[in-house]
Amino acid sequence: MKEMVLVSGGAGYIGSHTAVELINAGYDVVVADNLSNSDMSGVEGVRKITGVDVPFVNVDCCDKEAFRRVFEQYKFNSVIHFAAFKAVGESVTDPMKYYRNNLTSFMNVVDLMREFGRQNIVFSSSATVYGEADHLPVTEQTPRKPATSAYGNTKQMCEDILRDSVTAYDGLKGIALRYFNPIGAHPSALIGELPRGVPQNLVPFITQTAAGVRECLSVFGDDYPTPDGSCLRDYIDVVDLAKAHVVAITRMVEGRNKEAYEIFNVGTGNGTSVLELVHSFERVNGLKLNYKIAPRRPGDVVAIWADTTLANKELGWKAERSLDDTLRSAWAWEKHVRGIK
Ligand code: UD1
Repeated sequence: MKEMVLVSGGAGYIGSHTAVELINAGYDVVVADNLSNSDMSGVEGVRKITGVDVPFVNVDCCDKEAFRRVFEQYKFNSVIHFAAFKAVGESVTDPMKYYRNNLTSFMNVVDLMREFGRQNIVFSSSATVYGEADHLPVTEQTPRKPATSAYGNTKQMCEDILRDSVTAYDGLKGIALRYFNPIGAHPSALIGELPRGVPQNLVPFITQTAAGVRECLSVFGDDYPTPDGSCLRDYIDVVDLAKAHVVAITRMVEGRNKEAYEIFNVGTGNGTSVLELVHSFERVNGLKLNYKIAPRRPGDVVAIWADTTLANKELGWKAERSLDDTLRSAWAWEKHVRGIK
Protein backbone atom coordinates (compact mmCIF):
# COMPACT_ATOMS: atom_id res chain seq x y z
CA MET A 1 0.00 0.00 0.00
CA LYS A 2 1.21 3.50 -0.78
CA GLU A 3 2.13 5.85 2.05
CA MET A 4 -0.30 8.73 2.35
CA VAL A 5 0.69 12.31 3.16
CA LEU A 6 -1.64 15.07 4.29
CA VAL A 7 -0.66 18.40 2.73
CA SER A 8 -2.26 21.20 4.73
CA GLY A 9 -2.30 24.37 2.67
CA GLY A 10 -1.88 22.18 -0.40
CA ALA A 11 -3.88 24.53 -2.64
CA GLY A 12 -1.29 27.26 -2.14
CA TYR A 13 1.95 28.10 -3.87
CA ILE A 14 4.50 25.80 -2.23
CA GLY A 15 1.90 23.25 -1.13
CA SER A 16 0.63 22.60 -4.65
CA HIS A 17 4.14 22.10 -6.02
CA THR A 18 4.90 19.74 -3.15
CA ALA A 19 1.73 17.73 -3.78
CA VAL A 20 2.90 17.19 -7.36
CA GLU A 21 6.36 16.02 -6.31
CA LEU A 22 4.95 13.70 -3.64
CA ILE A 23 2.72 12.05 -6.23
CA ASN A 24 5.65 11.83 -8.68
CA ALA A 25 7.60 10.06 -5.94
CA GLY A 26 4.84 7.49 -5.42
CA TYR A 27 2.96 8.91 -2.43
CA ASP A 28 -0.80 9.21 -2.06
CA VAL A 29 -1.74 12.78 -1.20
CA VAL A 30 -4.71 14.39 0.46
CA VAL A 31 -4.96 18.17 0.34
CA ALA A 32 -6.58 20.16 3.16
CA ASP A 33 -7.00 23.89 2.66
CA ASN A 34 -9.56 26.57 3.56
CA LEU A 35 -8.74 28.54 0.38
CA SER A 36 -8.26 31.70 2.47
CA ASN A 37 -5.31 32.76 0.32
CA SER A 38 -5.68 30.41 -2.65
CA ASP A 39 -8.36 28.89 -4.84
CA MET A 40 -9.20 25.57 -6.45
CA SER A 41 -7.00 26.30 -9.45
CA GLY A 42 -4.01 25.10 -7.41
CA VAL A 43 -5.67 21.74 -6.74
CA GLU A 44 -6.94 21.47 -10.31
CA GLY A 45 -3.41 22.18 -11.55
CA VAL A 46 -2.04 19.37 -9.39
CA ARG A 47 -4.68 17.00 -10.75
CA LYS A 48 -3.94 17.99 -14.34
CA ILE A 49 -0.17 17.68 -14.02
CA THR A 50 -0.25 14.32 -12.25
CA GLY A 51 -3.37 12.78 -13.77
CA VAL A 52 -4.39 11.83 -10.23
CA ASP A 53 -7.73 12.88 -8.78
CA VAL A 54 -6.15 14.15 -5.57
CA PRO A 55 -8.68 14.29 -2.72
CA PHE A 56 -9.35 17.80 -1.46
CA VAL A 57 -10.97 18.78 1.84
CA ASN A 58 -12.05 22.37 2.41
CA VAL A 59 -11.17 22.77 6.06
CA ASP A 60 -9.70 25.36 8.38
CA CYS A 61 -6.96 23.65 10.40
CA CYS A 62 -7.84 25.99 13.28
CA ASP A 63 -11.25 24.28 13.50
CA LYS A 64 -10.17 21.25 15.47
CA GLU A 65 -13.44 19.31 15.18
CA ALA A 66 -13.54 19.73 11.41
CA PHE A 67 -9.83 18.97 11.14
CA ARG A 68 -10.30 15.83 13.27
CA ARG A 69 -12.70 14.47 10.65
CA VAL A 70 -9.87 14.62 8.09
CA PHE A 71 -7.79 12.42 10.39
CA GLU A 72 -10.75 10.07 10.81
CA GLN A 73 -11.34 9.81 7.09
CA TYR A 74 -7.77 9.47 5.80
CA LYS A 75 -5.10 7.16 7.18
CA PHE A 76 -2.02 9.26 6.40
CA ASN A 77 0.98 8.73 8.62
CA SER A 78 2.69 12.01 7.66
CA VAL A 79 1.70 15.64 7.38
CA ILE A 80 3.40 18.56 5.69
CA HIS A 81 2.01 21.69 7.27
CA PHE A 82 1.94 24.71 4.96
CA ALA A 83 -1.35 26.23 6.10
CA ALA A 84 -0.39 29.63 7.50
CA PHE A 85 -0.58 33.35 6.88
CA LYS A 86 2.62 34.78 5.42
CA ALA A 87 2.39 38.53 4.86
CA VAL A 88 5.13 40.02 7.02
CA GLY A 89 3.80 43.61 6.95
CA GLU A 90 0.25 42.57 7.84
CA SER A 91 1.58 40.53 10.75
CA VAL A 92 3.10 43.69 12.20
CA THR A 93 -0.16 45.65 11.99
CA ASP A 94 -2.39 42.73 13.05
CA PRO A 95 -0.23 40.39 15.12
CA MET A 96 -3.11 38.54 16.79
CA LYS A 97 -4.40 37.43 13.41
CA TYR A 98 -1.05 35.72 12.89
CA TYR A 99 -0.62 34.27 16.37
CA ARG A 100 -4.18 32.94 16.43
CA ASN A 101 -4.06 31.36 12.99
CA ASN A 102 -0.50 30.13 12.63
CA LEU A 103 -0.12 28.81 16.16
CA THR A 104 -3.61 27.31 16.55
CA SER A 105 -3.47 25.42 13.27
CA PHE A 106 -0.03 24.01 14.04
CA MET A 107 -0.93 23.02 17.60
CA ASN A 108 -3.99 21.25 16.20
CA VAL A 109 -1.73 19.33 13.81
CA VAL A 110 0.47 18.17 16.70
CA ASP A 111 -2.51 17.31 18.95
CA LEU A 112 -4.29 15.33 16.26
CA MET A 113 -1.15 13.50 15.16
CA ARG A 114 -0.79 12.34 18.76
CA GLU A 115 -4.46 11.55 19.20
CA PHE A 116 -4.48 9.36 16.09
CA GLY A 117 -1.03 7.85 16.62
CA ARG A 118 0.37 9.34 13.40
CA GLN A 119 4.08 9.98 13.15
CA ASN A 120 5.81 12.38 10.81
CA ILE A 121 5.53 16.15 10.62
CA VAL A 122 7.31 18.51 8.24
CA PHE A 123 6.94 22.16 9.16
CA SER A 124 7.40 25.10 6.76
CA SER A 125 9.87 27.32 8.48
CA SER A 126 11.77 30.26 7.08
CA ALA A 127 15.21 31.82 6.85
CA THR A 128 13.53 34.75 8.57
CA VAL A 129 14.41 33.00 11.87
CA TYR A 130 18.07 33.99 11.32
CA GLY A 131 17.33 37.73 11.07
CA GLU A 132 20.48 39.72 10.20
CA ALA A 133 23.03 36.96 10.74
CA ASP A 134 26.52 37.72 12.03
CA HIS A 135 28.17 35.28 9.62
CA LEU A 136 27.24 34.23 6.10
CA PRO A 137 26.25 31.80 4.78
CA VAL A 138 24.03 30.64 7.62
CA THR A 139 24.11 27.06 8.83
CA GLU A 140 21.41 25.39 10.89
CA GLN A 141 23.63 26.11 13.90
CA THR A 142 23.62 29.86 13.27
CA PRO A 143 21.77 31.37 16.25
CA ARG A 144 18.24 32.56 15.63
CA LYS A 145 17.72 36.29 16.14
CA PRO A 146 14.70 37.80 17.92
CA ALA A 147 11.92 38.03 15.34
CA THR A 148 11.01 41.48 14.05
CA SER A 149 7.48 40.52 13.02
CA ALA A 150 4.66 38.37 14.39
CA TYR A 151 5.01 36.28 11.24
CA GLY A 152 8.66 35.57 12.01
CA ASN A 153 7.76 34.92 15.62
CA THR A 154 5.18 32.28 14.64
CA LYS A 155 7.87 30.51 12.60
CA GLN A 156 10.19 30.42 15.60
CA MET A 157 7.41 29.40 17.99
CA CYS A 158 6.20 26.59 15.75
CA GLU A 159 9.77 25.30 15.41
CA ASP A 160 9.93 25.21 19.22
CA ILE A 161 6.51 23.55 19.52
CA LEU A 162 7.66 20.87 17.10
CA ARG A 163 11.01 20.37 18.86
CA ASP A 164 9.44 20.09 22.32
CA SER A 165 6.60 17.84 21.14
CA VAL A 166 8.72 15.28 19.31
CA THR A 167 11.11 15.25 22.25
CA ALA A 168 8.33 14.62 24.74
CA TYR A 169 5.92 12.38 22.85
CA ASP A 170 7.07 8.93 21.75
CA GLY A 171 6.48 8.05 18.14
CA LEU A 172 6.36 11.61 16.87
CA LYS A 173 9.11 12.86 14.53
CA GLY A 174 9.57 16.26 12.97
CA ILE A 175 11.61 18.14 10.42
CA ALA A 176 11.61 21.92 10.07
CA LEU A 177 12.63 23.13 6.64
CA ARG A 178 13.94 26.68 6.64
CA TYR A 179 13.11 28.09 3.23
CA PHE A 180 15.13 30.89 1.76
CA ASN A 181 13.32 32.84 -1.02
CA PRO A 182 11.05 30.52 -3.00
CA ILE A 183 10.42 31.69 -6.58
CA GLY A 184 9.36 30.38 -9.99
CA ALA A 185 6.65 27.99 -11.06
CA HIS A 186 6.07 24.48 -12.32
CA PRO A 187 7.49 23.94 -15.86
CA SER A 188 3.96 23.14 -17.09
CA ALA A 189 2.87 26.69 -16.08
CA LEU A 190 -0.26 25.07 -14.61
CA ILE A 191 0.57 26.01 -11.01
CA GLY A 192 2.46 28.98 -9.57
CA GLU A 193 2.21 31.84 -7.13
CA LEU A 194 -1.10 33.74 -7.07
CA PRO A 195 -0.64 36.74 -4.76
CA ARG A 196 -3.80 38.60 -3.84
CA GLY A 197 -3.58 42.38 -4.20
CA VAL A 198 -0.25 44.13 -4.57
CA PRO A 199 2.59 41.58 -4.35
CA GLN A 200 4.92 42.11 -1.42
CA ASN A 201 7.60 39.75 -2.75
CA LEU A 202 10.09 40.61 -5.44
CA VAL A 203 9.48 38.10 -8.21
CA PRO A 204 5.67 38.38 -8.38
CA PHE A 205 6.13 42.15 -8.49
CA ILE A 206 8.62 41.76 -11.34
CA THR A 207 6.36 39.46 -13.38
CA GLN A 208 3.31 41.68 -12.82
CA THR A 209 5.33 44.70 -13.92
CA ALA A 210 6.43 42.84 -17.06
CA ALA A 211 2.78 41.95 -17.70
CA GLY A 212 1.73 45.61 -17.36
CA VAL A 213 -0.35 45.00 -14.22
CA ARG A 214 2.06 47.17 -12.20
CA GLU A 215 3.59 50.28 -13.65
CA CYS A 216 7.03 50.21 -12.12
CA LEU A 217 9.10 48.02 -9.83
CA SER A 218 10.71 49.78 -6.88
CA VAL A 219 14.12 48.39 -6.03
CA PHE A 220 14.27 48.96 -2.30
CA GLY A 221 17.71 50.44 -1.70
CA ASP A 222 20.92 50.62 -3.74
CA ASP A 223 23.17 51.84 -0.95
CA TYR A 224 23.56 48.64 1.04
CA PRO A 225 27.08 47.37 1.73
CA THR A 226 26.88 44.79 -1.10
CA PRO A 227 28.71 44.71 -4.48
CA ASP A 228 25.95 46.58 -6.37
CA GLY A 229 24.28 48.19 -3.33
CA SER A 230 21.08 46.10 -3.45
CA CYS A 231 20.17 43.32 -0.97
CA LEU A 232 21.37 39.76 -1.38
CA ARG A 233 19.03 36.77 -1.08
CA ASP A 234 19.10 33.06 -1.82
CA TYR A 235 16.38 32.47 -4.43
CA ILE A 236 15.29 28.84 -4.42
CA ASP A 237 13.24 27.31 -7.22
CA VAL A 238 9.84 26.18 -5.96
CA VAL A 239 10.09 22.74 -7.63
CA ASP A 240 13.49 22.15 -6.02
CA LEU A 241 11.97 23.28 -2.72
CA ALA A 242 9.03 20.91 -3.20
CA LYS A 243 11.45 18.02 -3.73
CA ALA A 244 13.14 18.84 -0.41
CA HIS A 245 9.81 18.07 1.30
CA VAL A 246 9.63 14.70 -0.40
CA VAL A 247 13.09 13.66 0.77
CA ALA A 248 12.35 14.96 4.27
CA ILE A 249 9.17 12.88 4.51
CA THR A 250 10.90 9.83 3.03
CA ARG A 251 13.72 10.13 5.55
CA MET A 252 11.22 9.87 8.40
CA VAL A 253 9.04 7.21 6.73
CA GLU A 254 12.14 5.04 6.25
CA GLY A 255 13.36 5.77 9.78
CA ARG A 256 16.62 7.34 8.59
CA ASN A 257 16.30 10.48 10.69
CA LYS A 258 19.12 10.83 13.21
CA GLU A 259 17.12 12.77 15.78
CA ALA A 260 13.41 13.02 16.48
CA TYR A 261 13.66 16.70 15.51
CA GLU A 262 15.83 17.94 12.67
CA ILE A 263 16.27 21.24 10.87
CA PHE A 264 17.47 21.80 7.32
CA ASN A 265 18.19 24.92 5.33
CA VAL A 266 16.60 24.82 1.91
CA GLY A 267 18.34 27.22 -0.43
CA THR A 268 20.81 27.18 -3.30
CA GLY A 269 23.84 28.37 -1.38
CA ASN A 270 24.18 31.45 -3.63
CA GLY A 271 23.47 35.06 -2.81
CA THR A 272 21.87 37.04 -5.65
CA SER A 273 21.26 40.78 -5.54
CA VAL A 274 17.93 42.41 -6.39
CA LEU A 275 19.51 44.18 -9.36
CA GLU A 276 21.16 40.97 -10.61
CA LEU A 277 17.80 39.24 -10.40
CA VAL A 278 16.05 42.04 -12.30
CA HIS A 279 18.69 41.99 -15.05
CA SER A 280 18.64 38.19 -15.31
CA PHE A 281 14.86 38.30 -15.63
CA GLU A 282 15.18 40.82 -18.47
CA ARG A 283 17.89 38.82 -20.23
CA VAL A 284 16.32 35.36 -20.12
CA ASN A 285 12.87 36.57 -21.09
CA GLY A 286 14.04 39.11 -23.67
CA LEU A 287 12.23 42.11 -22.22
CA LYS A 288 12.85 45.42 -20.50
CA LEU A 289 11.50 46.01 -17.05
CA ASN A 290 10.36 49.40 -15.85
CA TYR A 291 12.11 49.87 -12.52
CA LYS A 292 13.41 52.62 -10.29
CA ILE A 293 15.60 52.83 -7.23
CA ALA A 294 13.50 53.54 -4.15
CA PRO A 295 14.31 54.00 -0.45
CA ARG A 296 15.18 50.97 1.66
CA ARG A 297 12.22 48.93 2.92
CA PRO A 298 12.06 48.91 6.72
CA GLY A 299 12.83 45.50 8.21
CA ASP A 300 14.87 44.16 5.26
CA VAL A 301 18.10 42.39 6.11
CA VAL A 302 21.12 43.34 4.02
CA ALA A 303 22.12 39.85 2.97
CA ILE A 304 21.33 36.24 3.66
CA TRP A 305 22.07 33.00 1.91
CA ALA A 306 22.19 29.38 2.97
CA ASP A 307 24.90 26.93 3.75
CA THR A 308 23.18 23.81 2.39
CA THR A 309 25.84 21.27 3.38
CA LEU A 310 23.55 19.51 5.84
CA ALA A 311 20.68 19.04 3.38
CA ASN A 312 23.16 17.90 0.71
CA LYS A 313 24.69 15.35 3.04
CA GLU A 314 21.76 14.13 5.10
CA LEU A 315 18.86 14.47 2.68
CA GLY A 316 20.85 13.87 -0.48
CA TRP A 317 19.10 16.96 -1.79
CA LYS A 318 20.41 19.93 -3.66
CA ALA A 319 18.91 22.68 -5.76
CA GLU A 320 19.12 21.72 -9.44
CA ARG A 321 17.23 24.22 -11.53
CA SER A 322 19.25 27.22 -12.70
CA LEU A 323 18.17 30.72 -11.75
CA ASP A 324 17.66 31.45 -15.46
CA ASP A 325 15.26 28.54 -15.87
CA THR A 326 13.42 29.53 -12.72
CA LEU A 327 12.98 33.09 -13.97
CA ARG A 328 11.73 31.77 -17.31
CA SER A 329 9.18 29.66 -15.45
CA ALA A 330 8.04 32.65 -13.38
CA TRP A 331 7.32 34.63 -16.55
CA ALA A 332 5.65 31.65 -18.28
CA TRP A 333 3.32 31.34 -15.28
CA GLU A 334 2.47 35.06 -15.22
CA LYS A 335 1.71 34.91 -18.96
CA HIS A 336 -0.53 31.89 -18.37
CA VAL A 337 -2.41 33.73 -15.59
CA ARG A 338 -2.86 36.87 -17.73
CA GLY A 339 -3.58 35.07 -20.96
CA ILE A 340 -0.52 36.64 -22.62
CA LYS A 341 0.80 34.76 -25.68
C1 UD1 B 1 10.16 38.02 2.93
C2 UD1 B 1 10.11 37.99 4.42
C3 UD1 B 1 10.38 36.60 4.88
C4 UD1 B 1 9.39 35.66 4.28
C5 UD1 B 1 9.42 35.76 2.79
C6 UD1 B 1 8.29 34.89 2.29
C7 UD1 B 1 10.78 40.17 5.33
C8 UD1 B 1 11.83 40.93 6.06
N1 UD1 B 1 11.08 38.91 5.01
O1 UD1 B 1 11.51 37.75 2.55
O2 UD1 B 1 10.29 36.54 6.27
O3 UD1 B 1 9.66 34.35 4.68
O4 UD1 B 1 9.25 37.11 2.38
O5 UD1 B 1 7.58 35.41 1.31
O6 UD1 B 1 9.74 40.70 5.01
N2 UD1 B 1 12.26 43.93 -3.10
C9 UD1 B 1 12.31 45.05 -3.91
N3 UD1 B 1 11.13 45.47 -4.46
C10 UD1 B 1 9.93 44.85 -4.24
C11 UD1 B 1 9.91 43.71 -3.41
C12 UD1 B 1 11.10 43.28 -2.85
O7 UD1 B 1 13.36 45.63 -4.13
O8 UD1 B 1 8.90 45.32 -4.75
C13 UD1 B 1 13.53 43.45 -2.53
C14 UD1 B 1 13.55 43.42 -1.02
O9 UD1 B 1 14.00 44.63 -0.51
C15 UD1 B 1 14.52 42.25 -0.75
C16 UD1 B 1 14.33 41.33 -1.95
O10 UD1 B 1 13.68 42.10 -2.95
O11 UD1 B 1 15.82 42.73 -0.76
C17 UD1 B 1 13.45 40.14 -1.64
O12 UD1 B 1 12.24 40.60 -1.04
P1 UD1 B 1 11.00 39.64 -0.79
O13 UD1 B 1 10.68 38.89 -2.01
O14 UD1 B 1 9.92 40.47 -0.16
O15 UD1 B 1 11.56 38.58 0.25
P2 UD1 B 1 12.28 38.81 1.67
O16 UD1 B 1 12.03 40.15 2.20
O17 UD1 B 1 13.68 38.35 1.54
